[in-house]
Amino acid sequence: MNYNKKTVKDIDVKGKKVLLRCDFNVPQDKATGAITDDKRIRAALPTIQYLLDQGAAVIACSHLGKPEPNFDKWVKKQTEKGKDPASLTQEKWEKTMKALSLAPVAKRLSELLGKDVIMAADVVGPDAQAKAAALQPGQILLLENTRFEKGETKNDPELAKAMASMAEVYVSDAFGAVHRAHASTAGVAEYLPAVSGFLIQKELEIIGGALANPKRPLVAILGGSKVSSKIGVINNLLEIADTIIIGGGMAYTFSAAQGGKVGDSLLEADWQDYANDMVKKAQEKGVKLLLPVDTVCADAFAPDANSQVVKAGEIPDGWQGLDIGPETVKLYCSAVADAGTVIWNGPMGVFEFPAFAKGTEAVAEALSKTSAITIIGGGDSAAAVQQLGYADKMTHISTGGGASLEFMEGKELPGVACLLDK
Ligand code: 3PG
Repeated sequence: MNYNKKTVKDIDVKGKKVLLRCDFNVPQDKATGAITDDKRIRAALPTIQYLLDQGAAVIACSHLGKPEPNFDKWVKKQTEKGKDPASLTQEKWEKTMKALSLAPVAKRLSELLGKDVIMAADVVGPDAQAKAAALQPGQILLLENTRFEKGETKNDPELAKAMASMAEVYVSDAFGAVHRAHASTAGVAEYLPAVSGFLIQKELEIIGGALANPKRPLVAILGGSKVSSKIGVINNLLEIADTIIIGGGMAYTFSAAQGGKVGDSLLEADWQDYANDMVKKAQEKGVKLLLPVDTVCADAFAPDANSQVVKAGEIPDGWQGLDIGPETVKLYCSAVADAGTVIWNGPMGVFEFPAFAKGTEAVAEALSKTSAITIIGGGDSAAAVQQLGYADKMTHISTGGGASLEFMEGKELPGVACLLDK
């Protein structure tokens, strides 16, 4: 895939209406609806500010959450989840939709920009159309949640056309959603000149650069709970990396595959053969594959569980591994010490429990001390680095969870492929 895409700097936006796709899919407090982390809104500011400064009229849009815009389908899905059909009223559905309005985002964006953000009541309906038509250079309009439209996730050309009809240029800065082939992330580029914003440009340059032409040695640290969700990444990185470090829950599947005892640890029994194949493939390719040599295990999945350190593959019955052990920490930290580039995706243990955060913390600290380019995949690893206080020590923390994972898998990203090449 070509990552060298035209950006907002390669196109004249002065006096033009610009449809700007952002990823404003921010976490909210369930009870109050308050935005609990505005990083994704902040990450879009450089592009928004640039467009406004250039005299563009900005029509911003985004999805938020996973609303179901079809009442009957919503009832079906909720019933499948075990909800009592009698409780699934039209009123309740409307409430769930309303809870995913972008209005709180408009408010926060307005505070951050220090200017009014006009909020549309719909995506391509009469309110959006009228407000977009009246929008002046230097003003910003935010459309309602794109997923309120039935055609969004189906990449319906009619919806894409309707969105495009409000603007003259399409700019995408929604890195977190580039793995989605939806009407607002890809379809719309069929009808407008399409370029990237600064956030996508940065993500492509840094992650794309590390994958295509890394400063070596390239060390990939892969953690998280499941081997099955990381197969694509492991496969792709086996072709590129010099060292692959495995931690987190998925290490127990590797351990069990090699005949180790894993007690009650997370185990994907069906993936053991695959784990063995990976070890073999790494040997064949001359990639150093590091697995834990010891484990901190606990007698329950709880923050205050009793714990002990045991050798990898020797976890007693009734105990479960929740973190890498101290010898593994030493091994992994020395592997990153002289790296040229480190890509990290997935925590080393249950970092949400302080007693089992030491492995993740030690790796974060080691990364903060290396002179290597350090790239943190979005999602859990980004959350861990933030929570443990190392965020500002990393070269780059991706704003994409699924998107950065699919990028590292080497997959084509529809929201990038649709942009004009340089
Ligand atoms: C994310 O949070 O990873 C992006 O906003 C994509 O959201 P989605 O998984 O609901 O498509």
